Amino acid sequence: MFDFTGFKILVAGGSSGIGLATAELLDRLGAVVVVSGRDAGKLEAARARLGAKAAALAFDATDPAQRRDALARIGAFDHLVACLSGGKGGGPFAGLALADLRAGFEAKFWPHAALVQDSLPYLSATGSITLVSAISARASNPGTAGLSALNAAIEGLVRPLAVELRPRRVNAVSPGVVDTP
Ligand SMILES: NC(=O)c1ccc[n+]([C@@H]2O[C@H](COP(=O)([O-])OP(=O)(O)OC[C@H]3O[C@@H](n4cnc5c(N)ncnc54)[C@H](OP(=O)(O)O)[C@@H]3O)[C@@H](O)[C@H]2O)c1
Repeated sequence: MFDFTGFKILVAGGSSGIGLATAELLDRLGAVVVVSGRDAGKLEAARARLGAKAAALAFDATDPAQRRDALARIGAFDHLVACLSGGKGGGPFAGLALADLRAGFEAKFWPHAALVQDSLPYLSATGSITLVSAISARASNPGTAGLSALNAAIEGLVRPLAVELRPRRVNAVSPGVVDTP
């Protein structure tokens, strides 16, 4: 259905799980995929699952210097997919340590927002941004208030940015439970 030949796509968080599956699909559809993550070993294993045209770049998306240096090395690209995991912030609200919820925002919301902002100088004027949120943003499951707030914050970026950055497209993909590392 889709042909991504000639398109360069950064999949941040592409060394595992949903990001790696996305990178593998885009690679098969012809894109030049750049996968990123912090762990160099995991990243190399991921790159080995992709075609010869794919590249891997290790950087911590929460670190401004590493993030900006990596983006400068990647240079111009067409599409950004961001699916960095957070993990913290779940559990019944009465006992939820707010420090854990804050850590969840630090691990997921801020690096997603920062990646979008720092990518703009490199992102094609006709390209796209896809953020991975979570269905908890719009569900009502007990024990997910923190995760819901975190993923709703990510989704909150999407609609205004889709207008502000047009004709670039901005979307969130909101998965349910997926068996990943
Ligand atoms: N799996 C689910 O059930 C589910 C459901 C709803 C939403 N989601 C969302 O989907 C996204 C992906 O989840 P997943 O289950 O596929 O997770 P995963 O298998 O743990 O993959 C996360 C990826 O992000 C990278 N990463 C994490 N923090 C990073 C950082 N600071 N800098 C650079 N790379 C970083 C990881 O590599 P390193 O660890 O090496 O850095 C890895 O490549 C997350 O945002 C998650 O909240 C998942």
